[in-house]
Amino acid sequence: MAFSLCLPQISLSGNNALQDLVSRMVTKAIQRPLVVTEKALLDIGLLDSLMSALRDAGITPTVFDGVLANPTDKVAEAAYAAFKESNADALIGFGGGSAMDTAKAIRAMAANPDKTIYDFEGIGKVGLVGPFLACVSTTSGTAAEVTSNAVITDTRRKVKMVIIDSALIPDIAVNDPSLMVGLPKSVTAATGMDALTHAIEAYVSIGAHPLTDHSALASISMIAEYLPQAVTNGKDLKAREMMAHGQFLAGMAFNSAGLGYVHSLAHQPGATHNLPHGICNAIILPVVCEFNLPVKEARFADIAVAMGVDTSEMSQAEAAKAAIQAIRSLSKTVGIPAGLHEIGIKESDLAGWVDAAEADPCSGCAPRIATKAELLAMYQAAF
Ligand SMILES: [Fe+2]
Repeated sequence: MAFSLCLPQISLSGNNALQDLVSRMVTKAIQRPLVVTEKALLDIGLLDSLMSALRDAGITPTVFDGVLANPTDKVAEAAYAAFKESNADALIGFGGGSAMDTAKAIRAMAANPDKTIYDFEGIGKVGLVGPFLACVSTTSGTAAEVTSNAVITDTRRKVKMVIIDSALIPDIAVNDPSLMVGLPKSVTAATGMDALTHAIEAYVSIGAHPLTDHSALASISMIAEYLPQAVTNGKDLKAREMMAHGQFLAGMAFNSAGLGYVHSLAHQPGATHNLPHGICNAIILPVVCEFNLPVKEARFADIAVAMGVDTSEMSQAEAAKAAIQAIRSLSKTVGIPAGLHEIGIKESDLAGWVDAAEADPCSGCAPRIATKAELLAMYQAAF
């Protein structure tokens, strides 16, 4: 199979990216976009600059502000109803991964009005490309503005449905660091560690290839260097901008190389306990790296170098282990909890997640196949 690199048609990054988006929407004769976001972002005024720029350009936006963290089937259905009711001709996902994934869900349903959100679970089930979609990221982590993925919780089964289809890749991706300076420390840390997880899982994935390797390693370097600064001083525009670039590069890498067991395992507590995706990933990441290490030693040694470890006096095996130590150290520096037990999970929860983790589409790119017993052992090690 040929190497593939799947990207948005246009990606806008930097301090004027939001204004540039509006100009490009004018060029495309868009008149009535539905802006899909969280009420909390509206309340703090984060949408003000977008809304006034749209109105100044003669565009009439409608807002759906019913997005919740870890968006559910119900949220997706309500958002699609708002899209139809507003007679919108385009979609703007504005926020973190939850807002952008909800906008992607609307796009899938609008393209396939005879289907329900449940019909899209898995790989390649959307098929048709829906209305114009711009995704404006206000965090630095999920890379949902870059990718073909949307994650929607099925409330009937309490499982996160992973929807992967190139029809979901936004037409325009926007990363404007001026929208990120007010992001709280905890969200900066969690989303930044999600981005690091994307880069590392992509680099050791069975789907990794030369077109994804360089962006994955560059991403790891940028995140290791700038995430602590972005957490310590959120107003540090340079750190915010480098994190925006770093998470974008991670998105470029994993959108084509795939992910692995960190995401498969992390999706389950995220769904049953409504926990932040990045926190679950960050806690599980070093455990899965230890499991993968025997089959990807040289790649973990590369990761150590990318994270700034001086490996010049180390053997490959020592360097690979140093990578995992560097991941643990970065997690601690940015305040990630030490284990799943610290975020409200009970040991008795773990066994119930193994089947869904094994079936998660992200498991298909794992470099080392785990048995159910090994998946449970990883949950226990992360506990
Ligand atoms: Fe993620």
